Amino acid sequence: MNRTEELRRRLAAAEEGGGSERRKRQHKEGKLSARERVALLLDEDTFEELDKLVVHRCRDFGMHETQTPGDGFITGWGRIDDRLVYVFAQDFTVFGGSLSETNAQKICKVMDLALKNGAPLIGLNDSGGARIQEGVLSLGGYADIFLRNTLASGVVPQISAIMGPCAGGAVYSPAITDFVFMVANTSYMFVTGPDVIRTVTHEEVTKEELGGSQTHNSVSGVGHFIAADDAECLRMIRGLLSYLPQNNLDDPPRRATSDPADREDPALDSLVPAESNLPYDIKDVIARVADDGEFFEVHEHFAPNIVVGFARFDGRSVGIVANQPAHLAGCLDIDSSTKGGRFVRFCDAFNIPIVTFVDVPGFLPGTEQEFGGIIRHGAKLLYAFAEATVPKITIITRKAYGGAYCVMGSKHVRTDINYAWPSAEIAVMGPEGAVNIIYRRELSTATDPAQARAERTEEFRARFASPWVAAERGFIDAVIEPRQTRGKIIRALRMLETKTDTMPRKKHGNIPL
Ligand code: HXC
Repeated sequence: MNRTEELRRRLAAAEEGGGSERRKRQHKEGKLSARERVALLLDEDTFEELDKLVVHRCRDFGMHETQTPGDGFITGWGRIDDRLVYVFAQDFTVFGGSLSETNAQKICKVMDLALKNGAPLIGLNDSGGARIQEGVLSLGGYADIFLRNTLASGVVPQISAIMGPCAGGAVYSPAITDFVFMVANTSYMFVTGPDVIRTVTHEEVTKEELGGSQTHNSVSGVGHFIAADDAECLRMIRGLLSYLPQNNLDDPPRRATSDPADREDPALDSLVPAESNLPYDIKDVIARVADDGEFFEVHEHFAPNIVVGFARFDGRSVGIVANQPAHLAGCLDIDSSTKGGRFVRFCDAFNIPIVTFVDVPGFLPGTEQEFGGIIRHGAKLLYAFAEATVPKITIITRKAYGGAYCVMGSKHVRTDINYAWPSAEIAVMGPEGAVNIIYRRELSTATDPAQARAERTEEFRARFASPWVAAERGFIDAVIEPRQTRGKIIRALRMLETKTDTMPRKKHGNIPL
């Protein structure tokens, strides 16, 4: 056999992975193979593979008899919408996609390239975690990856797709990355699986309940997106990347749009109900103002009382943060604070302007929240907004009460442009609560307490539950008609295109974790 034939034989063995039987099992479970995934993710014929001939070096447990070129990890670079990306994909058919010392080195190689060349890194995970036969060599390999995930954080976007059972080290690397996609019914994430849990805590739990896509997208918040199947997951990753810059020194891509910048929408004028305690869907507002009504929502199923995601104005990417009056009246709680805080920090790290819609009655009261540390967690959102130096625009649609007013992109945390709709209510607390406290003595001695309360409440509502005091102070730059919102946002974004703002010199801040 000449060298060329030998090369072809080795490459074919790499393509074969763990063999046709295991590949069939993968397909039977509704999963694509690692190579099929990479091909679907990238623009056609753009994948350049690295280390396809690398093999593991383990000699224990008879491992030297089972060597597959590539060792079950596919790594390299390619293009998405003609932009450079780095990718690795774990092949579950080779030792369950488990991480050997050598394929940790393969991942580190593409991570180093991504960091040096400033392009996103995408990991397609389908792995049983540390390769048990390799012991501490595999653990060390994971730690090498975790270090690079941390160094790359805030420098290049890092995206993880969980596309099979991922255990142990296979979940901590995704956890450090910016966005985690999961696939319904076939992906799981846990530090320890159901068997270990049964042994240690005697709890009975299925792997779906413990670490399935619903659990992580709606309960733990570890997952940001759920896809119906592998193909949809890969399409969604391409969609997300269309909003993101290549790295922290780059601007997000701009897309041509035929949606007029000055488009007015009269329906917005009556979208907020006249009764201030009635709900409405803030996503209707977002859809009516963004380019072509498009909104790429992040963390849709987690803490729905705050809505975060990407949209475009005038073709430019922005991050949207919005209280959702249709859930918990839009109150801020622990989960919504951490969700919002992490998203704001992502946008700030990657030069994506932040547009904030405010309708928040305050922080959610109760022992569960206080004992859970709402003070510490709420402070994360406040810290993130205050720290962000990207262009920031805030629109108060209705309520902006108490501490939540300060937190949600107020002028005081260096937001550039603050608008309010005429329906805005900006005060320390709602009229009923305020009257109960400041007129308590007067009400207790009134001849007709109900009448007195109604009068005082109306008086407070007229004077304080409005945008006027804030506008008189300049805390609101302008009160705008709702129909004008899109045009106002776009003009502000154009004005802020050259914004520069800095932080005091420091190693890094100490966000209240
Ligand atoms: C070596 C592994 C493996 C591993 C799976 N395999 N996990 N080989 N090391 N970690 C192999 C199996 O032996 C099997 O080989 C093949 O992959 C498929 O596995 P199955 O168990 O048949 O598949 P399935 O029933 O789908 O279950 C998948 C699984 C399960 C849930 C991932 O395999 C599992 O629980 N694996 C161990 C998970 C784990 O505890 N990993 C270590 C975590 S500790 P054959 O030859 O039969 O096809 C860790 C430390 C890092 O990662 C911590 C850093 C913070």
